[in-house]
Amino acid sequence: MDIEYREFETKRETYAYINENAEKIAAETDNVVAVLANVSALLRMELRDTNWAGFYLMKDGVLILGPFQGKPAVVRIEPGSGVCGTAVAENRAQIVEDVHKCTNHIACDAASSSEIVVPIYAAGELFGVIDIDSPSTGTFDGEDLTCLTETARILGDFLSKTSK
Ligand code: SME
Repeated sequence: MDIEYREFETKRETYAYINENAEKIAAETDNVVAVLANVSALLRMELRDTNWAGFYLMKDGVLILGPFQGKPAVVRIEPGSGVCGTAVAENRAQIVEDVHKCTNHIACDAASSSEIVVPIYAAGELFGVIDIDSPSTGTFDGEDLTCLTETARILGDFLSKTSK
């Protein structure tokens, strides 16, 4: 795998590069951990102003820490708990502008100030979430949501195929 860091002017171009490479990563192997590990590295490498990027995966109704890049994080998150658990309970993405003002936020890295969580569905089932933290407030917006929803779709398609 030869994916170089590239810098772009806009988020849209950055995510186009991320999603193009996420497709390549998913086409390389049917190993789920390998694909999620490389996509977490790709997200951290390309997304400016982030300090944590990775996955929580549904296991027996609970989110369990998956491959990620960043500081060690909480291992188990119940539905409804924290930003990730809220995404599961409400079955929709979450954007938190300022985690310090969010009462239902689980702090893993004191440096984190804003966060985005996007669900991943595989074969119609909630497989897990993409979770990205930023050390700045208000980093994530509708454009991140649209583009990361596409990342989640790429991974969902890959997971639907591999789990068969
Ligand atoms: N902040 C998350 C917990 C995971 S860390 O961001 C890596 C939450 O509130 O669910």
